[in-house]
Amino acid sequence: MQPARNELDLFKPGPGGLPPYLAGREHEQRICRAFLDQLRQGAAPPRDLILYGPRGNGKTALLSWLHEAARARDAVDVIHLTPAAVPTEEKLVRRLLSPTWWRRLLPGEVSISGVRWRAGQSPDAPSLDEILAVRTGKKPLLLLLDEAHALDAGVGHALLNASQIVGRKQPFLLALAGTPHLESRLSGMDVSFWSRSELLPISRLDAAATADALRLPLAGENVAIDDDALAQLVAANQGYPYFVQLSGEALWRRVVAGGSSAGGRITRTDVEAVRADFEEKKGRYYLQRYNELQDQGLLPAARAVAEAFEKRDRLDGAQLEAAVRRGLGEPGNGKRTAATAKTLGHLGYIWRPDAVPTWEAGIPSLMDYVRTHAPAAEQP
Ligand SMILES: Nc1ncnc2c1ncn2[C@@H]1O[C@H](COP(=O)(O)OP(=O)(O)OP(=O)(O)O)[C@@H](O)[C@H]1O
Ligand SMILES: [Mg+2]
Repeated sequence: MQPARNELDLFKPGPGGLPPYLAGREHEQRICRAFLDQLRQGAAPPRDLILYGPRGNGKTALLSWLHEAARARDAVDVIHLTPAAVPTEEKLVRRLLSPTWWRRLLPGEVSISGVRWRAGQSPDAPSLDEILAVRTGKKPLLLLLDEAHALDAGVGHALLNASQIVGRKQPFLLALAGTPHLESRLSGMDVSFWSRSELLPISRLDAAATADALRLPLAGENVAIDDDALAQLVAANQGYPYFVQLSGEALWRRVVAGGSSAGGRITRTDVEAVRADFEEKKGRYYLQRYNELQDQGLLPAARAVAEAFEKRDRLDGAQLEAAVRRGLGEPGNGKRTAATAKTLGHLGYIWRPDAVPTWEAGIPSLMDYVRTHAPAAEQP
């Protein structure tokens, strides 16, 4: 009998939704849990948490998991923000004030440590660290900030400094997530201590985790998958979490529609049957990434880098530089070469998964797409 389920209710190829099984993040979860335990006990965590990595690797998913874990027992307040909600420091202060504080006094007025403050009267406004100190004096606080690379530099500067002042003494934990651009954005915010934060690079999944991410949710629905079918999917996904969810959804749609070839078992025939749908969706995603490169005039350089990755899985600094230079068609311009390589890194087109200056493709299969479609450099 087919399960009476909706085709959308198992895998989650949308932005940020928690996947049915958060695979391969045991290391990151262990670290987050340790920070959270400290917070629950009312202790000050030793540093901020910073999650960074290419798009679609699962930063928001991990942040959402942390959010749920923190809320599981009512011992910690959680605020989950994006930069759009806090364009200015005052907006951030307002976000940190719980609604009851506003209600106690005149409309728009708040009292911090006996000092009354009316919104808009900035000279009297309590500072971010004062607000945090008062708030965390009542209950531990976890502040999650996603897409942090897009945070206004002034707000980021104030927030990281306040976290430094308060969070090292009181139960306040700041967790930021963003693209690889976050690193240089934080450097630009003039807060040198960010580099001593708990840095968690979020890379693609390994083959075992990719297989678990597909197999376990299906098993939970009493649907098994043949080993060869699973191996085929793992190879097609290249450990990229977004593609894992896309392919899972395509398969699940087939199961729900009753098209699965062997009842409650997924075979290679099923994987073949959903391939066109999966490839089409992947193509749309590649096109978005391609447009991003095009908007920044990066296509010829991206193509040359893709050509370099055709010969090897990793590029060292010199190999990357040579490829970018070739792509720019300007042999002499070292500054432009370095700036272009940097931007490709900020976008996550290329990515350094380990603490060594060696690059891998952010999404390996995107390299094939760019190699096929992007224009080559014009020869000088
Ligand atoms: N560990 C994981 N196991 C299985 N699926 C995952 C995992 N992490 C994320 N996903 C799925 O991958 C997709 C992308 O995840 P998410 O939106 O969290 O990425 P992101 O890094 O925040 O991307 P962006 O930079 O575009 O915001 C989602 O569909 C999510 O459900
Ligand atoms: Mg995200």
